[in-house]
Amino acid sequence: MTQKQTLTVRDNRTGDEYELDITDGTIRASDVGKIGKSDEEPGLAVYDPGFTNTASTRSAVTYIDGDRGILEYRGYPIEQLAESSTFLEVAYLLIHGELPTREQHDQWVHDITFHTFVHEDIKTVMRGFRYDAHPMGMLLSSVGALSTFYPEARNIKDPQIRHEQIVRLIAKMPTLGAWSFRHAQGKPYVYPDNDLTYTENFLSMLFKMSEQKYEPDPRLSKALEVLFILHADHEQNCSTNAVRSVGSSQVDPYSALSAGIAALYGPLHGGANEAVLRMLKRIKTKDNVPAFIEGVKNGDERLMGFGHRVYKNYDPRAKIIKKATEDVFEVTGVNPLLEVAQELEKIALEDEYFVSRKLYPNVDFYSGLIYEALQFPPEMFTVLFAIPRTAGWLAQWLELVDDPEQKIARPKQIYTGERQLDFVPAAQRWS
Ligand SMILES: CC(C)(COP(=O)(O)OP(=O)(O)OC[C@H]1O[C@@H](n2cnc3c(N)ncnc32)[C@H](O)[C@@H]1OP(=O)(O)O)[C@@H](O)C(=O)NCCC(=O)NCCS
Repeated sequence: MTQKQTLTVRDNRTGDEYELDITDGTIRASDVGKIGKSDEEPGLAVYDPGFTNTASTRSAVTYIDGDRGILEYRGYPIEQLAESSTFLEVAYLLIHGELPTREQHDQWVHDITFHTFVHEDIKTVMRGFRYDAHPMGMLLSSVGALSTFYPEARNIKDPQIRHEQIVRLIAKMPTLGAWSFRHAQGKPYVYPDNDLTYTENFLSMLFKMSEQKYEPDPRLSKALEVLFILHADHEQNCSTNAVRSVGSSQVDPYSALSAGIAALYGPLHGGANEAVLRMLKRIKTKDNVPAFIEGVKNGDERLMGFGHRVYKNYDPRAKIIKKATEDVFEVTGVNPLLEVAQELEKIALEDEYFVSRKLYPNVDFYSGLIYEALQFPPEMFTVLFAIPRTAGWLAQWLELVDDPEQKIARPKQIYTGERQLDFVPAAQRWS
């Protein structure tokens, strides 16, 4: 017998009954709005600060099953992509919805490679920042500034123009990110090298000094490639929601993406790996781990890099990063904090406190260690997140632009302030 996919609701204020359709495990907020609606009263609404149980879109980009620890881009498991794909192929997959043919791939890589340069005036914009400017602040402003260089980008209904901006954004993000890093160090900005791969070129723009050609260790560029793949998308998180919300006003993609970068700048979103590193430095040695764990269990501390709003199982990205950590340390030498991290993980995975609360390592638990081994200061960690996430933001933005159901984002509120006060002019109030 097939179950009826509806929900019957009885409004006890009036005794009226409503039958709401259930589609894909959701009811429509507009159907809820019909409950109790009359000429005098607005219908019922739902209250959901932080959108913890509200679907804002239908999406075919990224699938997550947090209980089972599954993450898939366009249906492909993250483990397989991290093992055998490249970041640019994954970016193509996210944006176009399917894997490229050889010709499509070569054209895509060529286009991205030949759009890595930015207008010289963008360099002037970046030069204008204070010597100690946070690289995320520089990145978000310079991405926003790009919209003034490509005014045609506002034609978001034109697929060809959209495609050009997508290529530009994926191509130029590493350039802007690397320059914001060089700026803080007082070093000259390094121009892109089109003979290198996406991640090799990024490393070159970050670390090249007086040598003719910068050739990064392939193990490092591969590890960065893996990290970029893991961070490319994560469905409707805070920054993606910001891109979609701002994008729903039909603004150009540079402006919409700078909103995403701003969201990622916040410590609750992009800053957890930095907090992990600070925690590991504070614990210092393996011997101090048991006392630290006791502090966590007593509620005095939080084990940073553990637990996730969605994953109630091992974050699939954390497993892959753990392996990449070993590869990076082969080149850079082992970070002594790795021992502390491994001991924390070992104890926590066996301890009843963490097991019963389904607290497992998340993506940030090991990524900070890798970034530090690659000599990035903590302020750069979020920039390293924003560069690959550009592919996901753009895939989600494209989906939004083409979705006939989407409207300008405009949540409701429950008004709690005063009403109909009489205004007394300042001269009278203060006399
Ligand atoms: C990610 C995070 C915010 C998710 O929070 P959440 O889904 O709202 O989960 P809650 O805060 O409701 O936690 C549920 C329980 O686990 C505990 N808990 C969650 N994360 C914990 C952690 N990292 N260390 C210790 N206890 C933790 C909470 O204290 C709570 O215990 P209680 O039921 O006894 O009160 C949270 O796990 C956290 O702060 N982790 C550390 C920061 C981090 O790594 N963030 C990066 C996420 S990618």
